[in-house]
Amino acid sequence: MSQAPDTSFVPRLDARQRAMLAEMGVRVWAPRTRPTGAAEATSEPPVAAPRPAPAPVAAASPPAATGLPVPATVMAQRPARAGEVQSMDWATLRETVAQCQACGLCKSRKNTVFGVGDEQADWMIVGEAPGENEDLRGEPFVGAAGQLLDNMLLATGRSRDGRGAEGAYIANVLKCRPPANRNPQPEEVVQCEPYLARQVALVKPRVIVAMGRFAVQSLLKTTEPIGRLRGRVHRYEGVPVIVSYHPAYLLRTPLDKGKAWADLCLAMHVMEQPPAGD
Ligand code: URA
Repeated sequence: MSQAPDTSFVPRLDARQRAMLAEMGVRVWAPRTRPTGAAEATSEPPVAAPRPAPAPVAAASPPAATGLPVPATVMAQRPARAGEVQSMDWATLRETVAQCQACGLCKSRKNTVFGVGDEQADWMIVGEAPGENEDLRGEPFVGAAGQLLDNMLLATGRSRDGRGAEGAYIANVLKCRPPANRNPQPEEVVQCEPYLARQVALVKPRVIVAMGRFAVQSLLKTTEPIGRLRGRVHRYEGVPVIVSYHPAYLLRTPLDKGKAWADLCLAMHVMEQPPAGD
Protein backbone atom coordinates (compact mmCIF):
# COMPACT_ATOMS: atom_id res chain seq x y z
CA MET A 1 0.00 0.00 0.00
CA SER A 2 1.43 3.42 -0.91
CA GLN A 3 2.25 5.71 2.01
CA ALA A 4 0.98 9.28 2.22
CA PRO A 5 3.89 11.69 1.63
CA ASP A 6 5.43 13.29 4.68
CA THR A 7 4.41 16.93 4.47
CA SER A 8 5.35 17.77 8.03
CA PHE A 9 8.10 20.05 6.74
CA VAL A 10 5.64 22.13 4.69
CA PRO A 11 5.07 25.52 6.31
CA ARG A 12 1.72 27.18 6.97
CA LEU A 13 1.47 30.39 5.05
CA ASP A 14 -0.30 33.64 5.70
CA ALA A 15 -2.16 35.60 3.04
CA ARG A 16 0.89 37.71 2.16
CA GLN A 17 3.08 34.70 1.59
CA ARG A 18 0.38 33.12 -0.55
CA ALA A 19 0.15 36.30 -2.60
CA MET A 20 3.92 36.20 -3.13
CA LEU A 21 3.72 32.62 -4.29
CA ALA A 22 0.92 33.52 -6.68
CA GLU A 23 3.16 36.33 -7.96
CA MET A 24 5.90 33.77 -8.51
CA GLY A 25 3.47 31.59 -10.41
CA VAL A 26 3.60 28.83 -7.79
CA ARG A 27 0.28 27.07 -7.27
CA VAL A 28 -0.49 25.98 -3.73
CA TRP A 29 -2.68 23.10 -2.75
CA ALA A 30 -3.52 20.92 0.21
CA PRO A 31 -1.45 17.79 0.68
CA ARG A 32 -3.31 14.50 0.94
CA THR A 33 -2.40 13.63 4.49
CA ARG A 34 -5.69 12.12 5.65
CA PRO A 35 -5.73 8.46 6.52
CA THR A 36 -7.78 6.28 4.20
CA GLY A 37 -11.48 6.79 4.81
CA ALA A 38 -11.07 9.91 6.94
CA ALA A 39 -12.82 13.14 6.04
CA GLU A 40 -10.65 15.64 4.19
CA ALA A 41 -9.73 18.78 6.16
CA THR A 42 -9.06 21.63 3.77
CA SER A 43 -9.91 24.82 5.67
CA GLU A 44 -6.39 26.39 5.92
CA PRO A 45 -4.15 24.06 4.02
CA PRO A 46 -0.41 24.20 4.19
CA VAL A 47 1.40 24.43 0.90
CA ALA A 48 2.38 21.13 -0.56
CA ALA A 49 5.70 21.21 -2.27
CA PRO A 50 5.73 19.09 -5.42
CA ARG A 51 8.46 16.79 -4.22
CA PRO A 52 8.79 13.51 -2.43
CA ALA A 53 9.28 13.65 1.31
CA PRO A 54 12.64 15.22 2.11
CA ALA A 55 15.31 12.96 3.43
CA PRO A 56 17.62 15.45 5.09
CA VAL A 57 20.75 13.48 4.41
CA ALA A 58 23.86 15.21 5.63
CA ALA A 59 26.12 14.76 2.65
CA ALA A 60 29.51 15.86 3.90
CA SER A 61 31.14 18.08 1.31
CA PRO A 62 34.62 19.03 2.37
CA PRO A 63 35.85 22.18 0.68
CA ALA A 64 38.78 20.38 -0.88
CA ALA A 65 36.57 17.92 -2.74
CA THR A 66 37.11 16.59 -6.19
CA GLY A 67 34.44 17.61 -8.66
CA LEU A 68 35.32 21.06 -9.89
CA PRO A 69 37.66 21.00 -12.88
CA VAL A 70 40.17 23.48 -11.55
CA PRO A 71 43.60 22.86 -13.08
CA ALA A 72 46.53 22.53 -10.69
CA THR A 73 48.11 25.64 -12.20
CA VAL A 74 45.02 27.60 -11.24
CA MET A 75 45.00 26.21 -7.72
CA ALA A 76 48.63 27.27 -7.41
CA GLN A 77 47.51 30.87 -8.01
CA ARG A 78 45.21 30.86 -4.98
CA PRO A 79 45.50 34.30 -3.48
CA ALA A 80 48.46 34.57 -1.20
CA ARG A 81 46.23 36.63 1.07
CA ALA A 82 43.59 33.85 1.46
CA GLY A 83 44.89 33.26 4.98
CA GLU A 84 44.60 36.95 5.79
CA VAL A 85 41.06 37.09 4.46
CA GLN A 86 40.04 34.38 6.92
CA SER A 87 40.48 36.72 9.85
CA MET A 88 39.12 39.96 8.37
CA ASP A 89 36.24 41.87 9.93
CA TRP A 90 33.39 43.19 7.78
CA ALA A 91 34.93 46.59 7.12
CA THR A 92 38.33 45.20 6.11
CA LEU A 93 36.77 42.49 3.98
CA ARG A 94 34.55 44.99 2.18
CA GLU A 95 37.49 47.29 1.49
CA THR A 96 39.69 44.39 0.35
CA VAL A 97 37.03 43.29 -2.13
CA ALA A 98 36.59 46.87 -3.36
CA GLN A 99 40.35 47.08 -4.09
CA CYS A 100 40.74 43.52 -5.41
CA GLN A 101 42.78 42.99 -8.57
CA ALA A 102 43.29 39.26 -8.21
CA CYS A 103 41.84 38.41 -11.61
CA GLY A 104 41.14 40.11 -14.93
CA LEU A 105 37.56 41.02 -14.02
CA CYS A 106 38.82 44.07 -12.15
CA LYS A 107 39.64 45.64 -15.53
CA SER A 108 36.06 45.63 -16.84
CA ARG A 109 34.01 46.05 -13.66
CA LYS A 110 32.27 49.31 -12.82
CA ASN A 111 31.77 48.32 -9.20
CA THR A 112 32.54 45.36 -7.04
CA VAL A 113 29.38 43.65 -5.75
CA PHE A 114 30.11 42.68 -2.20
CA GLY A 115 26.84 41.46 -0.73
CA VAL A 116 23.76 42.87 0.91
CA GLY A 117 21.39 42.18 3.74
CA ASP A 118 21.33 41.33 7.37
CA GLU A 119 24.87 40.46 8.47
CA GLN A 120 23.43 38.35 11.27
CA ALA A 121 20.82 36.61 9.14
CA ASP A 122 20.12 32.96 9.68
CA TRP A 123 19.52 32.58 5.93
CA MET A 124 22.14 33.19 3.31
CA ILE A 125 21.50 33.17 -0.43
CA VAL A 126 24.49 32.49 -2.66
CA GLY A 127 24.22 33.41 -6.33
CA GLU A 128 26.74 33.26 -9.12
CA ALA A 129 28.05 36.58 -10.38
CA PRO A 130 26.86 40.13 -10.89
CA GLY A 131 25.17 41.03 -14.15
CA GLU A 132 25.00 44.44 -15.79
CA ASN A 133 22.54 46.01 -13.32
CA GLU A 134 24.42 44.66 -10.32
CA ASP A 135 27.72 45.94 -11.74
CA LEU A 136 26.19 49.41 -12.13
CA ARG A 137 24.58 49.47 -8.68
CA GLY A 138 27.18 47.50 -6.71
CA GLU A 139 24.42 45.35 -5.20
CA PRO A 140 23.58 41.71 -5.92
CA PHE A 141 20.35 40.62 -7.58
CA VAL A 142 18.82 43.97 -8.53
CA GLY A 143 17.52 43.04 -12.02
CA ALA A 144 14.52 40.94 -12.98
CA ALA A 145 16.03 37.83 -11.39
CA GLY A 146 16.51 39.84 -8.22
CA GLN A 147 12.85 40.84 -8.22
CA LEU A 148 11.90 37.19 -8.38
CA LEU A 149 14.37 36.35 -5.63
CA ASP A 150 12.86 39.07 -3.44
CA ASN A 151 9.40 37.61 -3.99
CA MET A 152 10.67 34.13 -3.18
CA LEU A 153 12.26 35.42 0.02
CA LEU A 154 9.08 37.26 0.98
CA ALA A 155 7.14 34.05 0.57
CA THR A 156 9.37 32.57 3.27
CA GLY A 157 8.86 35.63 5.49
CA ARG A 158 12.27 37.12 4.73
CA SER A 159 13.72 40.05 2.85
CA ARG A 160 17.11 41.50 2.04
CA ASP A 161 16.50 44.57 4.17
CA GLY A 162 14.81 42.66 6.94
CA ARG A 163 11.97 45.18 7.11
CA GLY A 164 8.73 43.57 8.19
CA ALA A 165 10.28 40.20 7.86
CA GLU A 166 13.31 38.31 8.96
CA GLY A 167 16.45 39.20 7.14
CA ALA A 168 18.59 37.35 4.68
CA TYR A 169 22.13 37.93 3.50
CA ILE A 170 22.75 37.74 -0.25
CA ALA A 171 26.15 37.29 -1.85
CA ASN A 172 27.62 35.94 -5.05
CA VAL A 173 30.50 33.60 -5.72
CA LEU A 174 32.11 36.27 -7.93
CA LYS A 175 32.25 39.84 -6.73
CA CYS A 176 32.84 41.28 -10.21
CA ARG A 177 30.80 41.01 -13.39
CA PRO A 178 32.13 38.70 -16.09
CA PRO A 179 32.09 40.64 -19.38
CA ALA A 180 28.89 40.13 -21.39
CA ASN A 181 27.63 37.91 -18.56
CA ARG A 182 29.77 34.98 -19.67
CA ASN A 183 30.18 32.06 -17.30
CA PRO A 184 32.62 32.47 -14.41
CA GLN A 185 36.02 30.98 -15.19
CA PRO A 186 37.65 28.54 -12.73
CA GLU A 187 40.57 30.88 -12.06
CA GLU A 188 38.14 33.70 -11.21
CA VAL A 189 36.19 31.45 -8.84
CA VAL A 190 39.40 30.32 -7.14
CA GLN A 191 40.51 33.90 -6.54
CA CYS A 192 37.14 35.03 -5.24
CA GLU A 193 36.24 32.01 -3.07
CA PRO A 194 38.03 33.22 0.08
CA TYR A 195 35.78 36.30 0.16
CA LEU A 196 32.60 34.26 0.11
CA ALA A 197 34.05 31.86 2.66
CA ARG A 198 34.74 34.78 4.98
CA GLN A 199 31.24 36.21 4.44
CA VAL A 200 29.76 32.84 5.43
CA ALA A 201 32.01 32.68 8.49
CA LEU A 202 30.97 36.20 9.56
CA VAL A 203 27.24 35.80 8.94
CA LYS A 204 27.15 32.33 10.49
CA PRO A 205 23.90 31.43 8.72
CA ARG A 206 21.87 28.45 9.84
CA VAL A 207 21.13 27.60 6.23
CA ILE A 208 22.58 28.53 2.84
CA VAL A 209 20.49 28.36 -0.33
CA ALA A 210 22.85 27.96 -3.29
CA MET A 211 21.19 29.16 -6.48
CA GLY A 212 22.47 28.06 -9.85
CA ARG A 213 25.18 25.80 -11.15
CA PHE A 214 28.19 27.93 -10.34
CA ALA A 215 27.08 28.68 -6.81
CA VAL A 216 26.45 24.99 -6.20
CA GLN A 217 29.70 23.87 -7.81
CA SER A 218 31.72 26.41 -5.92
CA LEU A 219 30.27 25.63 -2.50
CA LEU A 220 29.98 21.87 -2.81
CA LYS A 221 32.91 21.16 -5.15
CA THR A 222 30.90 18.92 -7.38
CA THR A 223 29.97 18.78 -11.03
CA GLU A 224 26.70 16.92 -10.35
CA PRO A 225 23.77 18.65 -12.02
CA ILE A 226 21.40 20.65 -9.83
CA GLY A 227 18.56 18.24 -10.54
CA ARG A 228 20.54 15.44 -8.88
CA LEU A 229 21.54 17.50 -5.85
CA ARG A 230 18.16 19.03 -4.96
CA GLY A 231 16.07 17.60 -2.15
CA ARG A 232 18.98 16.78 0.15
CA VAL A 233 20.81 18.74 2.76
CA HIS A 234 24.47 19.26 1.86
CA ARG A 235 27.11 20.97 3.97
CA TYR A 236 29.56 23.84 3.49
CA GLU A 237 31.93 24.33 6.41
CA GLY A 238 29.34 22.60 8.56
CA VAL A 239 26.47 24.86 7.42
CA PRO A 240 23.47 23.11 5.81
CA VAL A 241 23.24 23.92 2.09
CA ILE A 242 20.08 23.62 0.01
CA VAL A 243 20.59 23.42 -3.74
CA SER A 244 18.15 25.26 -5.99
CA TYR A 245 17.72 26.79 -9.39
CA HIS A 246 18.94 30.24 -10.28
CA PRO A 247 16.16 32.86 -10.41
CA ALA A 248 17.23 33.82 -13.96
CA TYR A 249 16.68 30.20 -15.00
CA LEU A 250 13.27 30.27 -13.31
CA LEU A 251 12.32 33.33 -15.34
CA ARG A 252 13.06 31.33 -18.48
CA THR A 253 11.53 28.13 -17.13
CA PRO A 254 8.55 29.13 -15.00
CA LEU A 255 7.34 25.55 -14.73
CA ASP A 256 10.26 24.87 -12.39
CA LYS A 257 9.22 27.59 -9.95
CA GLY A 258 7.30 24.98 -7.98
CA LYS A 259 10.52 23.00 -7.53
CA ALA A 260 12.30 26.13 -6.33
CA TRP A 261 9.53 26.69 -3.81
CA ALA A 262 9.96 23.10 -2.66
CA ASP A 263 13.66 23.87 -2.12
CA LEU A 264 12.77 26.88 0.01
CA CYS A 265 10.37 24.69 2.00
CA LEU A 266 13.26 22.33 2.67
CA ALA A 267 15.38 25.29 3.81
CA MET A 268 12.57 26.34 6.16
CA HIS A 269 12.42 22.79 7.44
CA VAL A 270 16.15 22.88 8.17
CA MET A 271 15.58 26.07 10.15
CA GLU A 272 13.13 24.23 12.35
CA GLN A 273 15.76 21.71 13.36
CA PRO A 274 17.87 22.48 16.42
CA PRO A 275 21.24 23.96 15.41
CA ALA A 276 24.04 21.41 15.19
CA GLY A 277 25.67 20.84 18.57
CA ASP A 278 22.45 21.38 20.57
N1 URA B 1 22.74 36.60 -10.94
C1 URA B 1 23.48 36.27 -9.86
O1 URA B 1 23.83 35.11 -9.68
N2 URA B 1 23.82 37.23 -9.02
C2 URA B 1 23.44 38.49 -9.18
O2 URA B 1 23.78 39.31 -8.33
C3 URA B 1 22.64 38.81 -10.29
C4 URA B 1 22.31 37.86 -11.17
